[in-house]
Amino acid sequence: MQNMKLSAPAITAKKGVEKITMLTAYDASFARMLESVGVDMLLVGDSLGMVVLGYESTVPVSMDEMLHHAAAVRRGAPATMLVGDMPFLSYQVSRKEAVANAGRFFKEAGCDAVKLEGGREVCKAVQAIVQAGMPVMAHIGLTPQTVGKLGGFKVQGKDLDSARRLLKEAKALEEAGAFALVLECIPDGLARLISEEVAIPTIGIGAGAGCDGQVLVTNDLLGLFEKFVPSFVKKYINLAPDIKEAVALFLDEVKSGSFPDEEHSFAMKIESKDICR
Ligand code: KIV
Repeated sequence: MQNMKLSAPAITAKKGVEKITMLTAYDASFARMLESVGVDMLLVGDSLGMVVLGYESTVPVSMDEMLHHAAAVRRGAPATMLVGDMPFLSYQVSRKEAVANAGRFFKEAGCDAVKLEGGREVCKAVQAIVQAGMPVMAHIGLTPQTVGKLGGFKVQGKDLDSARRLLKEAKALEEAGAFALVLECIPDGLARLISEEVAIPTIGIGAGAGCDGQVLVTNDLLGLFEKFVPSFVKKYINLAPDIKEAVALFLDEVKSGSFPDEEHSFAMKIESKDICR
C-alpha cells in the first residue's frame, strides 16, 4: 500500500522495474476505495459517458461533465496520481484550445496529467500541452472517440501495415513528449514489440501481458456494467446480480412492512395526548 502520490516521471521510471496499475474512477466514493488499495493511477476516462451517463458512445461527453467527475475523484483520492481524459473535440480543433482545455483539468479538477487519443495527428497537441507544463498520456490502437473511422470496436494492428503504423505512432508520441502510452485492443505480440521499442511505459487494455502496465474500466472489473463486456475484460467479481437481489429484498420488505424493524428505528414511546392539543 502506498500513500505518496506518484508523479508522471515516477510512473515513467517504473518501466522495467514493476508493472503499473491504472483503473478508472468517476466519483469520490469509488476513488476513495481504489486509493485505499494502492492503485498507481486513477483515470477519469471518457468511458464516463457510457458507464455512468448512459450515452451510446464516448463522443457526446463534454468538458464540463469530465471536470465535474474528475473533481469528485480528486476529492475522494487526494493522494493518487489522477489522469483526466480529454473528451472528443477538446484537443483536435487547435493547439490553443488543446492547451486551454488540458489546463482546465489541472486548474478546476486538480488532475496531475491528461490523456488523449490518437496517433500522428495529435502529436502537435501533445507537444503543446507538454510544453505548457502538463504531462500527457497518449492512447493508440482502438480509440473509441473515432471508432467510426476505425470501422467499429475491432482489434487494431492485425495486418503488417497497420502494425507498422501503430509502432510509428507510438514512437512519434514518445518523441512528442508523452510520459506513457495506452495500447487498446491490439494483438499481444505487437503490444510487446511496441513496449520494447519505446522508452515510455505502455499501459495495456486488451493488449496482452507484454505491456508495462494494465488498465481496466473499474465497472467492468466489478461486473457493474451489464450492457456489454469486451472479451478482454476479466470480471473479478460480478456485483450487478447481487445489487439487484439486495434492492429486490428492500422492495419486498418495505411492501411487507418488515423493514424498518426495531433495530433500524429510534425507539421512543409517545402518545398523542403528550404532543397533540
Ligand atoms: O475512457 C476510458 O476509460 C479509457 C480507458 C479504457 C483506457 O480510455
